[in-house]
Amino acid sequence: MASTNKIKAGIIGGAGYTGGETLRLLLNHPQIEVAFTQSRSQEGKPVIEIHTDLIGDTELRFTSDYLQPADVLFLCLSHGESKKLLAEHPFDSKIRIIDLGNDFRLDEKAAHREFVYGLPEFQRDKIKSAKNVANPGCFATTIQLGLLPLAKAGLLGEVHTTGITGSTGAGQKLQETTQFTWRANNISAYKTLTHQHLGEINKTLKTLQPGFSEAVNFIPWRGDFTRGIFVTSVLNCSLSAEEVKKLYHDYYNLHPFSHVVDEMIDIKQVVNTNKCLIYIEKIGKKLAIHSVADNLIKGASGQAIQNMNLMMGLEETLGLKLKGSVF
Ligand SMILES: NC(=O)c1ccc[n+]([C@@H]2O[C@H](COP(=O)([O-])OP(=O)(O)OC[C@H]3O[C@@H](n4cnc5c(N)ncnc54)[C@H](OP(=O)(O)O)[C@@H]3O)[C@@H](O)[C@H]2O)c1
Repeated sequence: MASTNKIKAGIIGGAGYTGGETLRLLLNHPQIEVAFTQSRSQEGKPVIEIHTDLIGDTELRFTSDYLQPADVLFLCLSHGESKKLLAEHPFDSKIRIIDLGNDFRLDEKAAHREFVYGLPEFQRDKIKSAKNVANPGCFATTIQLGLLPLAKAGLLGEVHTTGITGSTGAGQKLQETTQFTWRANNISAYKTLTHQHLGEINKTLKTLQPGFSEAVNFIPWRGDFTRGIFVTSVLNCSLSAEEVKKLYHDYYNLHPFSHVVDEMIDIKQVVNTNKCLIYIEKIGKKLAIHSVADNLIKGASGQAIQNMNLMMGLEETLGLKLKGSVF
Protein backbone atom coordinates (compact mmCIF):
# COMPACT_ATOMS: atom_id res chain seq x y z
CA MET A 1 0.00 0.00 0.00
CA ALA A 2 1.45 3.37 -1.02
CA SER A 3 2.12 5.84 1.75
CA THR A 4 0.55 9.28 1.46
CA ASN A 5 3.79 11.26 1.66
CA LYS A 6 5.10 9.69 -1.52
CA ILE A 7 5.37 11.73 -4.71
CA LYS A 8 2.39 11.07 -6.97
CA ALA A 9 3.40 10.35 -10.57
CA GLY A 10 1.16 10.09 -13.62
CA ILE A 11 2.15 8.62 -16.98
CA ILE A 12 0.52 9.87 -20.17
CA GLY A 13 1.00 7.48 -23.10
CA GLY A 14 1.49 4.57 -20.71
CA ALA A 15 0.87 1.74 -23.17
CA GLY A 16 3.88 2.51 -25.39
CA TYR A 17 7.49 1.45 -24.97
CA THR A 18 8.76 4.42 -22.96
CA GLY A 19 5.47 4.58 -21.03
CA GLY A 20 5.92 0.93 -20.05
CA GLU A 21 9.56 1.39 -19.07
CA THR A 22 8.70 4.49 -17.05
CA LEU A 23 6.02 2.52 -15.22
CA ARG A 24 8.38 -0.41 -14.52
CA LEU A 25 10.92 1.97 -12.99
CA LEU A 26 8.38 4.04 -11.04
CA LEU A 27 6.76 0.94 -9.50
CA ASN A 28 10.16 0.13 -7.98
CA HIS A 29 11.02 3.69 -6.93
CA PRO A 30 10.91 4.02 -3.13
CA GLN A 31 9.54 7.60 -3.12
CA ILE A 32 6.88 7.23 -5.82
CA GLU A 33 3.25 6.29 -5.88
CA VAL A 34 1.99 5.76 -9.42
CA ALA A 35 -1.26 7.75 -9.42
CA PHE A 36 -2.39 6.70 -12.91
CA THR A 37 -1.22 5.57 -16.29
CA GLN A 38 -3.16 6.90 -19.26
CA SER A 39 -3.78 5.37 -22.68
CA ARG A 40 -6.32 6.25 -25.35
CA SER A 41 -6.23 2.85 -27.01
CA GLN A 42 -6.16 0.68 -23.87
CA GLU A 43 -8.56 2.59 -21.62
CA GLY A 44 -10.04 0.41 -18.86
CA LYS A 45 -7.75 -2.58 -19.46
CA PRO A 46 -5.54 -3.88 -16.66
CA VAL A 47 -2.00 -2.63 -17.25
CA ILE A 48 -0.74 -6.23 -17.11
CA GLU A 49 -2.72 -7.08 -20.26
CA ILE A 50 -0.32 -4.86 -22.20
CA HIS A 51 2.82 -4.96 -20.02
CA THR A 52 2.41 -8.65 -19.25
CA ASP A 53 5.71 -8.90 -17.35
CA LEU A 54 4.22 -6.67 -14.64
CA ILE A 55 1.92 -9.43 -13.37
CA GLY A 56 2.05 -9.43 -9.59
CA ASP A 57 3.53 -5.91 -9.51
CA THR A 58 0.52 -3.70 -10.13
CA GLU A 59 -3.26 -3.73 -10.20
CA LEU A 60 -3.53 -0.47 -12.12
CA ARG A 61 -5.82 -0.14 -15.11
CA PHE A 62 -5.21 2.23 -18.00
CA THR A 63 -7.32 5.32 -17.70
CA SER A 64 -8.33 7.89 -20.28
CA ASP A 65 -8.38 10.58 -17.59
CA TYR A 66 -5.10 12.38 -17.11
CA LEU A 67 -6.52 15.24 -15.06
CA GLN A 68 -6.06 13.34 -11.80
CA PRO A 69 -4.04 14.65 -8.84
CA ALA A 70 -0.30 14.26 -9.46
CA ASP A 71 2.94 15.98 -8.50
CA VAL A 72 4.80 14.98 -11.64
CA LEU A 73 3.67 13.91 -15.12
CA PHE A 74 5.71 11.87 -17.56
CA LEU A 75 4.61 12.52 -21.15
CA CYS A 76 5.47 9.43 -23.23
CA LEU A 77 3.73 10.49 -26.42
CA SER A 78 4.50 10.52 -30.12
CA HIS A 79 6.09 13.55 -31.74
CA GLY A 80 3.88 16.67 -31.54
CA GLU A 81 1.37 15.14 -29.12
CA SER A 82 2.85 16.67 -25.92
CA LYS A 83 2.59 20.18 -27.31
CA LYS A 84 -1.00 19.52 -28.36
CA LEU A 85 -1.84 18.10 -24.94
CA LEU A 86 -0.41 21.07 -23.03
CA ALA A 87 -2.15 23.50 -25.36
CA GLU A 88 -5.50 21.80 -24.60
CA HIS A 89 -4.86 21.16 -20.89
CA PRO A 90 -2.36 23.58 -19.35
CA PHE A 91 -2.32 21.67 -16.00
CA ASP A 92 -1.64 23.39 -12.69
CA SER A 93 1.72 25.16 -12.88
CA LYS A 94 2.78 23.37 -9.67
CA ILE A 95 2.72 20.02 -11.49
CA ARG A 96 6.16 19.18 -12.78
CA ILE A 97 6.29 17.89 -16.34
CA ILE A 98 8.91 15.66 -17.92
CA ASP A 99 8.43 15.25 -21.67
CA LEU A 100 10.13 12.22 -23.19
CA GLY A 101 9.40 13.33 -26.74
CA ASN A 102 11.13 16.03 -28.75
CA ASP A 103 8.48 18.74 -28.54
CA PHE A 104 10.36 21.03 -26.13
CA ARG A 105 14.02 20.16 -26.64
CA LEU A 106 14.58 23.11 -28.95
CA ASP A 107 11.41 25.07 -28.29
CA GLU A 108 11.99 25.55 -24.57
CA LYS A 109 9.46 28.30 -23.93
CA ALA A 110 6.22 26.76 -25.11
CA ALA A 111 2.80 25.95 -23.76
CA HIS A 112 3.16 28.67 -21.08
CA ARG A 113 5.98 26.72 -19.48
CA GLU A 114 9.74 26.92 -19.57
CA PHE A 115 11.50 23.64 -20.25
CA VAL A 116 15.08 22.79 -19.26
CA TYR A 117 16.96 20.31 -21.45
CA GLY A 118 17.37 17.26 -19.23
CA LEU A 119 20.88 15.94 -19.78
CA PRO A 120 22.27 15.88 -16.21
CA GLU A 121 25.87 15.45 -17.39
CA PHE A 122 25.47 18.76 -19.23
CA GLN A 123 23.50 20.92 -16.78
CA ARG A 124 22.59 19.13 -13.56
CA ASP A 125 22.24 22.32 -11.51
CA LYS A 126 19.75 23.81 -13.97
CA ILE A 127 17.67 20.62 -13.85
CA LYS A 128 17.61 20.77 -10.03
CA SER A 129 15.65 23.99 -10.16
CA ALA A 130 13.55 23.15 -13.23
CA LYS A 131 9.77 22.84 -13.14
CA ASN A 132 9.63 21.26 -16.59
CA VAL A 133 12.18 19.09 -18.32
CA ALA A 134 12.61 18.18 -21.98
CA ASN A 135 14.20 14.74 -21.80
CA PRO A 136 16.88 14.22 -24.49
CA GLY A 137 16.58 11.77 -27.38
CA CYS A 138 18.25 8.36 -27.18
CA PHE A 139 20.82 8.87 -29.96
CA ALA A 140 21.28 12.47 -28.74
CA THR A 141 22.11 11.23 -25.23
CA THR A 142 24.61 8.60 -26.35
CA ILE A 143 26.33 10.89 -28.87
CA GLN A 144 26.51 13.87 -26.51
CA LEU A 145 27.92 11.82 -23.64
CA GLY A 146 30.72 10.82 -26.01
CA LEU A 147 31.50 14.47 -26.86
CA LEU A 148 30.70 16.69 -23.85
CA PRO A 149 34.21 16.72 -22.27
CA LEU A 150 35.85 17.66 -25.58
CA ALA A 151 33.32 20.46 -26.15
CA LYS A 152 33.84 21.76 -22.60
CA ALA A 153 37.59 21.89 -23.31
CA GLY A 154 36.96 23.70 -26.63
CA LEU A 155 38.53 20.85 -28.60
CA LEU A 156 35.74 19.84 -30.94
CA GLY A 157 36.28 20.06 -34.68
CA GLU A 158 34.32 18.34 -37.43
CA VAL A 159 32.89 15.07 -36.08
CA HIS A 160 31.96 11.91 -38.02
CA THR A 161 29.51 9.73 -36.10
CA THR A 162 27.88 6.40 -36.79
CA GLY A 163 25.36 4.88 -34.40
CA ILE A 164 23.30 1.70 -34.40
CA THR A 165 20.01 1.28 -32.54
CA GLY A 166 17.65 -1.55 -31.64
CA SER A 167 14.09 -1.83 -32.92
CA THR A 168 12.44 -0.41 -29.76
CA GLY A 169 13.91 2.97 -30.72
CA ALA A 170 11.09 3.28 -33.26
CA GLY A 171 8.18 2.83 -30.82
CA GLN A 172 5.56 0.11 -30.54
CA LYS A 173 3.62 0.84 -33.73
CA LEU A 174 4.38 -1.82 -36.34
CA GLN A 175 6.38 -0.53 -39.29
CA GLU A 176 8.05 -2.35 -42.17
CA THR A 177 11.49 -1.86 -40.60
CA THR A 178 10.43 -3.08 -37.15
CA GLN A 179 8.76 -6.33 -38.18
CA PHE A 180 10.76 -9.50 -37.60
CA THR A 181 11.09 -10.55 -41.23
CA TRP A 182 12.73 -7.25 -42.17
CA ARG A 183 14.75 -6.64 -39.03
CA ALA A 184 16.18 -10.10 -38.31
CA ASN A 185 19.63 -10.68 -39.87
CA ASN A 186 19.52 -7.21 -41.35
CA ILE A 187 21.14 -3.76 -40.98
CA SER A 188 20.48 -0.52 -42.83
CA ALA A 189 21.24 3.18 -42.63
CA TYR A 190 18.55 5.84 -42.48
CA LYS A 191 18.18 9.63 -42.22
CA THR A 192 21.81 10.11 -43.38
CA LEU A 193 23.13 13.45 -42.01
CA THR A 194 19.56 14.59 -41.29
CA HIS A 195 18.51 12.77 -38.10
CA GLN A 196 16.17 14.85 -35.94
CA HIS A 197 18.48 14.67 -32.89
CA LEU A 198 21.18 16.77 -34.59
CA GLY A 199 19.44 19.98 -33.50
CA GLU A 200 19.64 19.25 -29.77
CA ILE A 201 23.18 17.83 -30.11
CA ASN A 202 24.43 20.97 -31.84
CA LYS A 203 22.65 23.22 -29.34
CA THR A 204 24.43 21.61 -26.39
CA LEU A 205 27.81 21.51 -28.09
CA LYS A 206 27.57 25.19 -29.06
CA THR A 207 26.67 26.09 -25.48
CA LEU A 208 29.71 24.27 -24.12
CA GLN A 209 32.02 25.38 -26.92
CA PRO A 210 30.86 28.82 -28.03
CA GLY A 211 31.67 29.40 -31.69
CA PHE A 212 31.62 25.68 -32.55
CA SER A 213 30.49 25.75 -36.17
CA GLU A 214 31.70 22.43 -37.56
CA ALA A 215 29.32 19.67 -38.51
CA VAL A 216 28.45 16.55 -36.57
CA ASN A 217 28.08 14.21 -39.56
CA PHE A 218 25.80 11.53 -38.17
CA ILE A 219 24.70 8.35 -39.93
CA PRO A 220 22.21 6.28 -37.89
CA TRP A 221 21.84 2.54 -38.52
CA ARG A 222 19.01 0.16 -37.67
CA GLY A 223 20.30 -2.93 -35.92
CA ASP A 224 19.12 -6.52 -35.63
CA PHE A 225 18.37 -6.37 -31.87
CA THR A 226 15.63 -4.94 -29.70
CA ARG A 227 17.34 -2.43 -27.45
CA GLY A 228 20.57 -0.53 -26.99
CA ILE A 229 22.61 2.04 -28.90
CA PHE A 230 26.27 1.85 -29.92
CA VAL A 231 27.84 5.06 -31.21
CA THR A 232 31.31 5.88 -32.53
CA SER A 233 32.43 9.46 -33.11
CA VAL A 234 35.70 10.18 -34.95
CA LEU A 235 37.53 13.51 -35.09
CA ASN A 236 41.02 15.01 -35.30
CA CYS A 237 42.64 15.73 -31.95
CA SER A 238 46.11 16.91 -31.00
CA LEU A 239 45.98 15.58 -27.42
CA SER A 240 47.43 12.19 -26.53
CA ALA A 241 45.09 9.33 -25.62
CA GLU A 242 46.10 9.69 -21.97
CA GLU A 243 45.34 13.43 -21.98
CA VAL A 244 41.91 12.80 -23.50
CA LYS A 245 41.13 10.04 -21.00
CA LYS A 246 42.07 12.35 -18.12
CA LEU A 247 39.78 15.03 -19.53
CA TYR A 248 36.90 12.53 -19.63
CA HIS A 249 37.60 11.09 -16.17
CA ASP A 250 37.70 14.61 -14.70
CA TYR A 251 34.46 15.59 -16.46
CA TYR A 252 32.48 12.50 -15.42
CA ASN A 253 34.01 12.15 -11.95
CA LEU A 254 30.86 13.32 -10.16
CA HIS A 255 28.32 11.83 -12.55
CA PRO A 256 27.07 8.47 -11.28
CA PHE A 257 25.87 6.95 -14.56
CA SER A 258 28.60 7.84 -17.08
CA HIS A 259 31.77 5.76 -16.95
CA VAL A 260 34.99 5.97 -18.94
CA VAL A 261 36.45 2.47 -19.24
CA ASP A 262 39.72 0.93 -20.45
CA GLU A 263 38.43 -1.89 -22.64
CA MET A 264 36.20 -1.93 -25.73
CA ILE A 265 32.55 -1.65 -24.75
CA ASP A 266 29.44 -3.50 -25.91
CA ILE A 267 25.69 -3.05 -25.67
CA LYS A 268 25.08 -5.92 -23.23
CA GLN A 269 27.02 -4.02 -20.55
CA VAL A 270 24.34 -1.33 -20.41
CA VAL A 271 21.04 -2.84 -21.57
CA ASN A 272 18.47 -2.54 -18.75
CA THR A 273 20.62 -0.01 -16.89
CA ASN A 274 20.80 3.78 -16.72
CA LYS A 275 24.53 3.71 -17.54
CA CYS A 276 26.49 5.08 -20.42
CA LEU A 277 29.93 3.55 -20.98
CA ILE A 278 32.59 5.40 -22.95
CA TYR A 279 35.77 3.97 -24.49
CA ILE A 280 38.42 6.17 -26.11
CA GLU A 281 40.99 5.19 -28.78
CA LYS A 282 43.65 7.34 -30.45
CA ILE A 283 45.00 6.14 -33.80
CA GLY A 284 47.47 8.57 -35.39
CA LYS A 285 45.80 11.99 -35.28
CA LYS A 286 42.32 10.51 -35.08
CA LEU A 287 40.36 10.16 -31.90
CA ALA A 288 37.58 7.53 -31.83
CA ILE A 289 35.09 7.78 -28.99
CA HIS A 290 32.75 4.85 -28.52
CA SER A 291 29.68 5.18 -26.28
CA VAL A 292 26.85 2.77 -25.40
CA ALA A 293 23.52 3.24 -23.63
CA ASP A 294 20.10 1.61 -23.42
CA ASN A 295 17.79 3.69 -25.65
CA LEU A 296 14.82 3.06 -23.35
CA ILE A 297 16.60 3.66 -20.02
CA LYS A 298 19.45 6.21 -20.15
CA GLY A 299 18.08 7.25 -23.55
CA ALA A 300 14.52 7.75 -22.23
CA SER A 301 12.72 6.51 -19.08
CA GLY A 302 15.75 6.07 -16.78
CA GLN A 303 17.05 9.52 -17.61
CA ALA A 304 13.52 10.90 -17.07
CA ILE A 305 13.55 9.45 -13.55
CA GLN A 306 17.10 10.69 -12.97
CA ASN A 307 15.76 14.14 -13.92
CA MET A 308 12.75 13.73 -11.63
CA ASN A 309 15.07 12.81 -8.74
CA LEU A 310 17.08 15.98 -9.35
CA MET A 311 13.97 18.16 -9.69
CA MET A 312 12.45 16.74 -6.50
CA GLY A 313 15.63 17.05 -4.42
CA LEU A 314 16.04 13.27 -4.18
CA GLU A 315 19.26 11.33 -4.51
CA GLU A 316 20.09 11.25 -8.24
CA THR A 317 20.41 7.46 -8.40
CA LEU A 318 17.24 6.62 -6.43
CA GLY A 319 15.29 3.80 -8.08
CA LEU A 320 17.92 3.49 -10.79
CA LYS A 321 20.36 0.94 -9.43
CA LEU A 322 19.33 -1.57 -12.04
CA LYS A 323 20.56 -5.00 -12.93
CA GLY A 324 21.96 -5.28 -16.46
CA SER A 325 21.20 -8.24 -18.74
CA VAL A 326 24.92 -9.01 -19.34
CA PHE A 327 24.23 -12.24 -21.27
N1 LIG B 1 11.59 4.36 -28.04
C1 LIG B 1 12.70 4.95 -27.65
O1 LIG B 1 13.76 4.34 -27.57
C2 LIG B 1 12.67 6.42 -27.29
C3 LIG B 1 13.81 6.97 -26.70
C4 LIG B 1 13.80 8.33 -26.35
C5 LIG B 1 12.69 9.10 -26.63
N2 LIG B 1 11.60 8.53 -27.22
C6 LIG B 1 10.44 9.39 -27.47
O2 LIG B 1 9.45 9.07 -26.52
C7 LIG B 1 8.15 9.25 -27.09
C8 LIG B 1 7.38 7.94 -26.95
O3 LIG B 1 8.11 6.94 -27.63
P1 LIG B 1 7.72 5.41 -27.54
O4 LIG B 1 8.85 4.66 -28.14
O5 LIG B 1 7.25 5.08 -26.20
O6 LIG B 1 6.48 5.40 -28.56
P2 LIG B 1 5.29 4.35 -28.63
O7 LIG B 1 5.73 3.02 -28.14
O8 LIG B 1 4.79 4.44 -30.02
O9 LIG B 1 4.21 4.94 -27.63
C9 LIG B 1 3.66 6.23 -27.79
C10 LIG B 1 2.28 6.25 -27.18
O10 LIG B 1 1.71 7.53 -27.38
C11 LIG B 1 0.31 7.40 -27.43
N3 LIG B 1 -0.25 8.37 -28.35
C12 LIG B 1 -1.03 9.40 -27.96
N4 LIG B 1 -1.40 10.13 -29.01
C13 LIG B 1 -0.86 9.54 -30.10
C14 LIG B 1 -0.92 9.82 -31.50
N5 LIG B 1 -1.62 10.83 -31.99
N6 LIG B 1 -0.24 9.00 -32.34
C15 LIG B 1 0.46 7.95 -31.86
N7 LIG B 1 0.53 7.65 -30.56
C16 LIG B 1 -0.11 8.43 -29.68
C17 LIG B 1 0.01 5.97 -27.87
O11 LIG B 1 -0.76 5.38 -26.88
P3 LIG B 1 -2.36 5.37 -26.90
O12 LIG B 1 -2.81 5.40 -28.33
O13 LIG B 1 -2.68 4.08 -26.23
O14 LIG B 1 -2.77 6.55 -26.12
C18 LIG B 1 1.37 5.26 -27.87
O15 LIG B 1 1.36 4.06 -27.15
C19 LIG B 1 8.36 9.63 -28.57
O16 LIG B 1 8.21 11.01 -28.70
C20 LIG B 1 9.80 9.20 -28.84
O17 LIG B 1 10.42 9.99 -29.82
C21 LIG B 1 11.56 7.21 -27.56
